Amino acid sequence: MRLAGIIIALAAVSAQADLPYKIDTHHHFVPVSYRAALDAAGGDPVGFPTPPWTPQSSLENMAANNIRKAILSVTAPGVPIVPDIEGGRALAREINEYSAELREAHPDSFGFFASLPSLLDTKGTLSEIEYALDVLKADGVTLFTRYGDGTHSHYLGHASFDPIWSALDSRNAVAFIHPSHQVNASPISPLLLQPLIDYPHETTRAAVDMIASNVTRRFPNVKCILSHAGGTLPYLISRISTSSNEIEVLLAGKTGAEIREDFRTFYFDLALSSDSAVLDMLLTLVPHERIVYGSDVPYARPTLITGFNENLDAYDFGQPALREMVYHGNAEKLLPSTGKA
Ligand SMILES: *[C@@H]1O[C@H](CO)[C@@H](O)[C@H](O)[C@H]1NC(C)=O
Repeated sequence: MRLAGIIIALAAVSAQADLPYKIDTHHHFVPVSYRAALDAAGGDPVGFPTPPWTPQSSLENMAANNIRKAILSVTAPGVPIVPDIEGGRALAREINEYSAELREAHPDSFGFFASLPSLLDTKGTLSEIEYALDVLKADGVTLFTRYGDGTHSHYLGHASFDPIWSALDSRNAVAFIHPSHQVNASPISPLLLQPLIDYPHETTRAAVDMIASNVTRRFPNVKCILSHAGGTLPYLISRISTSSNEIEVLLAGKTGAEIREDFRTFYFDLALSSDSAVLDMLLTLVPHERIVYGSDVPYARPTLITGFNENLDAYDFGQPALREMVYHGNAEKLLPSTGKA
């Protein structure tokens, strides 16, 4: 039994050795300053526990999963957990300085998506974009799907965010768009784990808001990565863009063809989203150079990450070149710290 187990484990490692290495665009870290801010605020609003994390735990996870480089980001709620403006600016700065130090210590292993204050703080956000992208040379910025409290909040298409999109557009920046909790986080059924069900819908809402407000058209140089294969967006895009009359306006002054065109400008990461049905759908709907690997370390526990990686490794991409693109090639074209963008 034990010997059989070892043989299976060795077979798995050697099978992995034949597969391309990965660049992980959805890899979370928990800096000490961020953990302290979360704890001070009573933890994640949806009650999700903050997992242990060290740079070493990331490196070990990467070695186990054939990940050559991870682009670090904090997960939701991110810096907006800090309610006061000055505190939010200070925390974003502290996280970004720490990220740059980590990258300096492990240049081949880590890049980072910069943290920003709440986007409701336009001035603070603009100055952190300038510092993080121009001075620290981050790979991009982390945006959350919605900013503000309850119904006094905005998805990413809101007009007040235009100056921020404009600053990102002028820098050809990458924006990693991560879901946060839905407006009403009351646990109607405690059995429904919100990050599993509602986070994907938040991504869909933010992306459709960006399409409807023409953010994707007006700021075409920003490369936006939607987490988790776009949440539920690929499944729903036909729902909002289909008519027998191609010139009929379906949403915010736009035709179905225009909506689908905007949808295809997003990038999609594969964090917790590599079932063959999901991959079939993505490869059918979006340009193949817009699909990138992601893991969701350390919020997804190792057995989940291994399961999703097994699905990805078992998927028939048809041609080896396409597997290379999805595992690392597409991300390398996108991310400055890979040295190939
Ligand atoms: C978005 O762009 C479309 C097509 O270019 C236009 O018809 C529509 O009015 C615009 N909508 C907004 C909200 O800017």
